[in-house]
Amino acid sequence: MAVSPYTRRSVMTILFDYLALSLLSTAASAGYMFSDAGISSRSDLFGKILRDEAVARLNELGKVSDADGYLERTFMSPASVRAGNLIRGWMEDAGLRTWVDQMGNVHGRVEGMNANAAALLIGSHLDTVVDAGIFDGSLGIISALSALKVLKINGTLGKLRRPIEVIAFCDEEGVRFQSTFLGSAAVAGILPVTALQISDKSGVTVQDVLKENSIEISEENLLQLKYDPGSVWGYVEVHIEQGPVLEQLGFPLGVVRGIAGQTRLKVTVRGSQGHAGTVPMSMRQDPMAAAAELIVLLERLCKHPKDFLSFDGHCNDISTESLSNSLVCTVGEISTWPSASNVIPGQVTFTVDLRAMDDMGRESVIYELSNQMYQICERRSVSCVVDRKHDANAVICDSELRSQLKAAAYSALKKMAGEIQDEIPALMSGAGHDAMAMSHLTKVGMLFVRCRGGISHSPAEHVLDDDVWAAGLAVLAFLETHL
Ligand code: GLV
Ligand code: MN
Ligand code: MN
Repeated sequence: MAVSPYTRRSVMTILFDYLALSLLSTAASAGYMFSDAGISSRSDLFGKILRDEAVARLNELGKVSDADGYLERTFMSPASVRAGNLIRGWMEDAGLRTWVDQMGNVHGRVEGMNANAAALLIGSHLDTVVDAGIFDGSLGIISALSALKVLKINGTLGKLRRPIEVIAFCDEEGVRFQSTFLGSAAVAGILPVTALQISDKSGVTVQDVLKENSIEISEENLLQLKYDPGSVWGYVEVHIEQGPVLEQLGFPLGVVRGIAGQTRLKVTVRGSQGHAGTVPMSMRQDPMAAAAELIVLLERLCKHPKDFLSFDGHCNDISTESLSNSLVCTVGEISTWPSASNVIPGQVTFTVDLRAMDDMGRESVIYELSNQMYQICERRSVSCVVDRKHDANAVICDSELRSQLKAAAYSALKKMAGEIQDEIPALMSGAGHDAMAMSHLTKVGMLFVRCRGGISHSPAEHVLDDDVWAAGLAVLAFLETHL
């Protein structure tokens, strides 16, 4: 069987083809599989650990859910705790010493030959969105543990030049508290102590949830979770791409150049609650109709930022250009009170998730959006409050780590396919990752793994078994540079 026919196309060209990609995904799968005649054998012990066992673990973890019939694990939920225990067992199986910290992050560490050397941290998250796929987060944890297990079996785990620590972070999706990165931000030392008092929809705080799980956290010991930057060499994260670029390029792995900045807003619109049959249309202060107008405004602004931002001077040419290429905005959650078909609502609340590569540009959009939202609310005689719930600036991955991960990916693919003709692709991430929080502590690098049709945050999320194998081999190759 021939080696995959890698197509030579620039990432930018591919991005512009985004819309065509879902149609092409079936055709692209023609170049999807690796040669059985590859140098690394999937049937030897290490091949089985990196591929079959890793895939089996992804499936097993994917069944650990709080919901019947779909995957959901939010911060410290019963399923998250069960998932953490499962991962902890796999960490021990890989020869790591394990513990759970006071935010619920699960750690596994091997000291290697020099316990005092700066440690390489490898991580991703164990929480999921609602109705999630099984690879988002889990793939990064499991591929790291598979690679370490191989080092344990081949007797080199103790010969590592520096400590290696795998961290399964407790909260990257932010579904329960809308804050994201509760775990990695604590380790990086950027989680404000006020985060302990954020409450979920039922009024339970982060601190309460931890206490329910027998974890007593105070403001003081939250601060102690921060790692000393001098004790850390760098942070690496493997993650599914969650987009279509690698599939279209015909590459199982890619190196991440940077991660888009993001903001989450909560918009609350209050009007006059009333009877759906008796209040004349001209006399209503309807927050639902206002919210609809606000959401359409958001969509227009994010589709055509140039039309909104270029005239009034708070956005320069570079950021408007970069915004046009990368700005994405989403209203993913909306709720209304009292939510009955014969009642004009008294209140409507919705979330806004806004991302861009350019931080200044993102700020300009939020400024403009808020201004125009308040004007709409005033015109409609409803009140509006725009709350900022979360901000993370864009991150550029470390250039040295990028080259090392590129070399590791190259070596993995070469082992599998025999020969690689083209450069490992480098791409930007529109999705948020724990690496964003960890960049406040240390240099970060990320490796992306191809997924089917670019689909993620969906049960349709899929990674080929061979690509799971490629990810494990790449982590192994990267770890071997620390022997
Ligand atoms: C996490 O998956 C995010 O980008 O929201
Ligand atoms: Mn996710
Ligand atoms: Mn993720």
